[in-house]
Amino acid sequence: MTDGKGRPETRLVHGGRRREWRGRLVNPPVERASTILFDSVADLKRNRPQLGTYRYALQGTATQWALAEALTDLEAGAAGTALYSSGLAAITAPLMTVLGPGDELLVPDNVYGPTRHFCDTFLKRYGVATRYYDPLIGKEIGGLVSERTRAILLESPGSLTMEVQDVPGICAVARDRDLVTLLDNTWATPLLFPAISHGVDITILAATKYVGGHADVMLGSATATADHYDRLQHVSWDLGHSVSPDDAWLGSRGLRTMGVRLKQHEESALKIAEWLKGQSQVGRVLHPALPDCPGHGHWRRDFKGSSGLFSFELKAGNEARAAFVDRLELFGIGYSWGGYESLALPIDPHRTVSEAPAPNLVRLHIGLEDPDDLIEDLANSLSKL
Ligand SMILES: Cc1ncc(COP(=O)(O)O)c(C=O)c1O
Repeated sequence: MTDGKGRPETRLVHGGRRREWRGRLVNPPVERASTILFDSVADLKRNRPQLGTYRYALQGTATQWALAEALTDLEAGAAGTALYSSGLAAITAPLMTVLGPGDELLVPDNVYGPTRHFCDTFLKRYGVATRYYDPLIGKEIGGLVSERTRAILLESPGSLTMEVQDVPGICAVARDRDLVTLLDNTWATPLLFPAISHGVDITILAATKYVGGHADVMLGSATATADHYDRLQHVSWDLGHSVSPDDAWLGSRGLRTMGVRLKQHEESALKIAEWLKGQSQVGRVLHPALPDCPGHGHWRRDFKGSSGLFSFELKAGNEARAAFVDRLELFGIGYSWGGYESLALPIDPHRTVSEAPAPNLVRLHIGLEDPDDLIEDLANSLSKL
């Protein structure tokens, strides 16, 4: 265990690898279990549900605790991490923890589609009203807060249209008004944006993406401050959330190399985004590290780098866009991102209170292939438009 010592890349390697969990192995092994056996009834009765104590496998074993601790170790100011079987569950369970009937939730208009669907269906039935806001609203969000408002959800950058939010500004307003802030930090991970030190209360990762890194596991995490962690973890257990040891182990395995992978995703994605900017068939390139991206100033102020996901506008129409994506040979067509392989997807953002920054968008996830091969593939398809 690092006890929070070392720079982030060092913690990434050492976090969660307690001697008592791994023995003489480098990695804590996959511990498969449902029942945990106690020495006596007294022993069983003394036991309380908490991470790091064997009780019942819903509360995990060393395999899950190691991943949770490693993720907590990456966020200065965090008290703990709850794990989930998908990124979406890592969004919905924290929302259910902090909200109750009669409350109002503020949600960015560019939010990940299934999060929006959850707000508009389940939360609505549960008596929670959702108010959507322009992701670039910044401190003006104070004007939307009513006496029913309980929490603000953020997603920065938005995973479709890439707007970078003023996270510290919004969190400062939230603190003043006693509201809880929850951030979907999947694009940046704590390596590029340590969310809690920027004022966020609960920071969420679809660990399916960069933590897993190999397109072979569904996983989510929510890391929280001391004010929120205990309740979040216990409500999540009340809801029956758990993660299989195999999936937690894959998460830990991916996490150890996330730093070097992110550096390559960053370098290749920037090279390709810059190249796209110079192509006559391409309109706006929405990459947080490029000046044309809405909220780029926030990225420059707050982030330590960029990752591999961005979008760009194709000037051709809708049908040409589908054909453009179909012609690509090195880019897969599919949901998700953050794996070692490149992906391309036409996207049609659903907005109700703000405008998307550009029409006819294609979203790329730049994987670990040689970026020159990816550029050739894109050039070939663009030339046929
Ligand atoms: C920004 C963002 N958040 C959350 C999720 C949900 O993660 P999962 O697919 O693991 O449920 C996704 C998935 O694409 C995403 O892009």
